Amino acid sequence: MSAPPHYESDQALAEYLLLHYGTAESLLNGLPGPHEAMEFPARVVRELLDTSRLPSSAKALDIGCAVGRSTFELARHCVEVHGIDSSQKFILAASTLAKEGKLEVPIPVEGAITVPFEAQVSGDIHRARVSFCVGDALNLPPKLGKFDVVLAANLICRLPQPKQFLESLTTLVGGQLLLTTPFTWLEEFRGSWLGATENCSSWEALKEILDPHFQLEEEKNLPFLIREHARKFQYGIALGSRWRPRA
Ligand SMILES: C[S@@+](CC[C@H](N)C(=O)[O-])C[C@H]1O[C@@H](n2cnc3c(N)ncnc32)[C@H](O)[C@@H]1O
Repeated sequence: MSAPPHYESDQALAEYLLLHYGTAESLLNGLPGPHEAMEFPARVVRELLDTSRLPSSAKALDIGCAVGRSTFELARHCVEVHGIDSSQKFILAASTLAKEGKLEVPIPVEGAITVPFEAQVSGDIHRARVSFCVGDALNLPPKLGKFDVVLAANLICRLPQPKQFLESLTTLVGGQLLLTTPFTWLEEFRGSWLGATENCSSWEALKEILDPHFQLEEEKNLPFLIREHARKFQYGIALGSRWRPRA
């Protein structure tokens, strides 16, 4: 499979490096804005991961990792973390961050004007614990094994078959499953949406699919901000949840 074209563009690379590694200063540059929505991938890990029940040898998998911030954040708590994404451009950027600890790209200001932005991995993260590869969430290698933590942040509503993906998680999750989604369904995959009809919300449909296999432990609203250019942003509020496999 190939990645959706948007995720292979320079625009998306700039947007996701800022979403993952930007601060209020680099995103808003003095403009008013939602400060609570900064560093979404770090908050996902901080607010959803149950660190009290992780073994010292914990392994994690971040599916749809994009440019890798949550993958690096998981490495604060897990000794081995794999990030998988279908975008070659994102995985190249994430791998450069793992190797060099930093990556500079131009970010749009207005029209043809750009300024440089340097994404940096925090110095207290063990970058050697992290690896990245290109892969398809709907066709993961069969011998991946089980993970203490599986994260899929803002992925399910990008997939042509979200139900198939959720059902496949039973073979991957040994400890905890962390999900976030703003349920921004794509028109082209309309027949496969989870709920989102008059009779059933997406959250109800998602719970129905996971409930036989997983117990819901936590629900959180997690705002995020994607900067398109200096004065245009997408503000979203993902619904975050933590699930534990039923015994
Ligand atoms: C909305 S972004 C979320 C990225 C990141 N998890 C975050 O929270 O910022 C969706 C990501 O899923 C990736 N993606 C889309 N379809 C995929 C697929 N079939 N398999 C793996 N990754 C996919 C995209 O390349 C993109 O990085």
